[in-house]
Amino acid sequence: MREKGRTQLKVLIRRAAIRKRVQEVAREITKDFKGERVHLVGVLKGACIFLSDLVREIDLDTSLDFIAVSSYGKGKDSSGQVRVNKDLDSSIEGLNVILVEDILDTGLTLSYLRRILQQRRPRILKVAALLDKPSRRIIKDIEGDYVGFKIPNEFVVGYGLDYAERYRNLKDVCILSLPPE
Ligand code: IMP
Ligand code: MG
Repeated sequence: MREKGRTQLKVLIRRAAIRKRVQEVAREITKDFKGERVHLVGVLKGACIFLSDLVREIDLDTSLDFIAVSSYGKGKDSSGQVRVNKDLDSSIEGLNVILVEDILDTGLTLSYLRRILQQRRPRILKVAALLDKPSRRIIKDIEGDYVGFKIPNEFVVGYGLDYAERYRNLKDVCILSLPPE
């Protein structure tokens, strides 16, 4: 637990548990795509740390690309709108694409990304998410194919996840509580 003013960080998932689970997810992907190439598409910026740990545990031919979207702006609440800030560098047509997300929350971002990426005719489109907050889902048919941890409805930071661009460097996933405004 660390404190800054009355802002509090409480560890939810420790780094050792994250490492172990990332290895398990990577093993599952390696098994599912045995003998094939996978093209990982990281959703910037939140997925960058999860993706860099995950790809090093995958024992397959891999390639990487990134897409940047914004849905949350600077705060905690979803604007409900998704915008592409940086598109993919190359075509995904015919590829085994795994979209790598930090967290599935309302599902709005993922449902938008799935729609625009499917139109580009990948061979397969799967979703890997480090975290899943199922109780927050607005879009009902949205699920991760590879999910690290299901978590309760708390705002979390660390291991890539931010609050107003901060805390991405924390090694554990922590619950952030802000002082009342
Ligand atoms: P969704 O569109 O509501 O599913 O939200 C997806 C995006 O919102 C994620 O990729 C995160 O960037 C952000 N987000 C959702 N919940 C959290 C959280 O608890 N902490 C930090 N970012 C979050
Ligand atoms: Mg964010």
